Amino acid sequence: MTEWQKSNWRNKPRVQMPDYTDAEALNAVEAQLSQYPPLVFAGEARRLKDELGAAGRGEAFLLQGGDCAESFEQFSADAIRDTFKVMLQMAIVLTYGAKVPVVKVGRMAGQFAKPRSAATETVDGVELPSYRGDIINELAFTPESRIPDPKKMLQAYTQAAATLNLLRAFSTGGYADVHQVHAWTLGFVEGDKSARYREMAGRIGDTLDFMKAAGVTSDRLHSLQTVDFYTSHESLLLEYEEALTRLDSTSGKWLAGSGHMIWIGDRTRQPDGAHVEFASGVLNPVGLKCGPTTTAEDLKVLMSKLNPENEEGKLTLIARFGAGNVGEHLPRLVKAVQEEGANVTWVCDPMHGNTIKSATGFKTRPFESVLREVQDFFGVHNAEGTVPGGVHFEMTGLDVTECTGGVRAVTEEDLSDRYHTACDPRLNASQSLELAFLVAEELTKRRNNDKAAASA
Ligand code: PEP
Ligand code: CO
Repeated sequence: MTEWQKSNWRNKPRVQMPDYTDAEALNAVEAQLSQYPPLVFAGEARRLKDELGAAGRGEAFLLQGGDCAESFEQFSADAIRDTFKVMLQMAIVLTYGAKVPVVKVGRMAGQFAKPRSAATETVDGVELPSYRGDIINELAFTPESRIPDPKKMLQAYTQAAATLNLLRAFSTGGYADVHQVHAWTLGFVEGDKSARYREMAGRIGDTLDFMKAAGVTSDRLHSLQTVDFYTSHESLLLEYEEALTRLDSTSGKWLAGSGHMIWIGDRTRQPDGAHVEFASGVLNPVGLKCGPTTTAEDLKVLMSKLNPENEEGKLTLIARFGAGNVGEHLPRLVKAVQEEGANVTWVCDPMHGNTIKSATGFKTRPFESVLREVQDFFGVHNAEGTVPGGVHFEMTGLDVTECTGGVRAVTEEDLSDRYHTACDPRLNASQSLELAFLVAEELTKRRNNDKAAASA
């Protein structure tokens, strides 16, 4: 077998990537990015791989979340802080339900490039190339805005670096103190409609009070004050990915330096395509979206390409079938995994199979469908005796109105109030936290069933 090269993807069929017209400008940007420091280090990616391995065994649980698409225009410290904050709140609630550590991975600091269902978009009879994310072109509906501009990769790199810098500061600078994070959650459970969640929040508070009384305080126990927070994005724009790939001198392996974890989308998972080729050679943990059209045969080939040494934590399968479709698709793919004896970490993305158009014309997702897909996912794993290793959400800490439902019910009429996403609709802070409580209930049920089975 010839050795993997970071540029080998160029010899494979590619889809969902822009055709840059100015080759010189593209080369100049690639050359510049190749000189910049990587955003993450190999040791961090390896540690995340170990933690994802634990999630695959049921000894940890993955919470992966963030924007569908990061945006240049909406880039702000407050937006990063608020998403980080709600993810920490969710993580505490999930830890309480799962009774295992929660691995926190943002769709942040690199989640810029988007696959699209159509190459062009037509508005009032005018047809233009589709918007493909701020790292490629612009959302405004004008011919100039839609021309792919390689220089945008430099802006994306700068924004990713600044985002990661802030996340690292928040993770260790006292902001992530468990007592403070839980205090924020108490605000959410105050309302009448969240009464259902008050009891669990109270029990978490009691546990923290007990630990404090017993002398387990944040200043004594470092892990109560700091968190590990990782970054991830879809590895779609391969010129950007290749330019940030570096040789890790410790292991002699290649690191995708653009983020701790990368994933392959549902539209770019062709076993012989460019995206699989690129992801097959890096040491980072890799995610693979699995949708209704994923066949067992393809999955088997993909598992052997993306995790040739069958390492635990190397490959995360992100199931995104849509509420009501999980029972039809997940069992056949679980079976394919078992037939191969493959190590994978199963995660549920209940967002991408549940996008609908509201009567008011907005792309939205009903909270009930999102929840139902998560419940179906747990149901299948409980029945199959396999491990539900985590969840993957499109969410923001901001108070947007993009998905309908939740205790602070967003109606279809409300969608126009604060609909800010450049791409898919996200859960807002309240919907995200509510979902964490509901997933924690599923995790508690599962533990109780396990206990009952063990004592029977
Ligand atoms: C996404 O995660 O934003 C996405 C495009 O997902 P999928 O590839 O599963 O459609
Ligand atoms: Co999306």
